[in-house]
Amino acid sequence: LTVEVFPDYAAMSGRAAEIVVELLQEKPDAVLGLPTGSTPLGFYDALVASGVSLAQARTFNLDEYLGLPRTHPESYYSFMKRALYDRSDLRPENCHIPDGNAPDPHEECRRYEEAIRAAGGLDILVLGVGHNGHIGFNEPGSQWDARTRVVNLAESTRRANARFFNSLDEVPRQAITMGIGTILEARRILLLASGQEKAPAVRDMVESAPTPDVPATALQLHPNVTVLLDREAAALLH
Ligand code: F6R
Repeated sequence: LTVEVFPDYAAMSGRAAEIVVELLQEKPDAVLGLPTGSTPLGFYDALVASGVSLAQARTFNLDEYLGLPRTHPESYYSFMKRALYDRSDLRPENCHIPDGNAPDPHEECRRYEEAIRAAGGLDILVLGVGHNGHIGFNEPGSQWDARTRVVNLAESTRRANARFFNSLDEVPRQAITMGIGTILEARRILLLASGQEKAPAVRDMVESAPTPDVPATALQLHPNVTVLLDREAAALLH
C-alpha cells in the first residue's frame, strides 16, 4: 500500500480527483468504480470542478441498499445522482449501480458482475472504509474471493448510517455489494479516509497482518493501492 497524508480533507479530496482526471486524460472511456458515503463528497466536488469530461467514461458503484426504493433520498442511486450524475456529462446508460429492487437480487448480482466484465473490468476503484474496516459492504468475516452478492449489514454499520435516516429502524438490513474478489480485480485502487474516527480502521488496514476480521486488510494483497488520508485519519499510523 502506498500511503499519502494530506493536511486536510480538501487536499485529500483534490488529490483523489487529480488521479482520476489524469486517468481520464489518458483513457477517456475509463471504467471507474465509485463509492457513496460522506468521505467521497469532496472528491466528487473536485472532479466536477475540474471540468473533465466523463462523456465516454463508464461507472460502476460498489453497492446499493436492498429494497429501498431507487427514488428514496438515501438510496445510493439518489446519492450518485446528486453527487455526480446530475453534475457531469456522464451518459445515463454508462452509469451502473446494483438494482436493489430487482425481482431476483441474486440474478441481479450475476448480471452486475457480467456487466463489469463486459466493460473490460475496473480501471480504477475509489473506496472509503467503515469504522469496522469494511470496504463496500463487505463486513468483517467476508470471504476474500467473494463476488457481487447480497449481504446483511453489521449492526454497527446500520448505526453509523442511521444518521441519514429518521430512525435506526428505517436503515435497510441488507445490501448488494461488490465482493472483495471483485474489488481486488480492479487495476488500481484509491482508498480515502478522513477524520479521527477512521484512524483505528486505517491503522489496522495498513499495519495488521491480513485478516478477514478487517476486510480492508485484503487491500495489502493488491499491487496498486494508494491510500489517501487527512492528518486525523493518519494519526495512529506508526
Ligand atoms: C459506500 C461504501 C462504504 C463506505 C464506508 C465509509 O459505497 O461502500 O464502504 O465507503 O461505509 O462511509 P463514510 O464515507 O460515510 O464514512
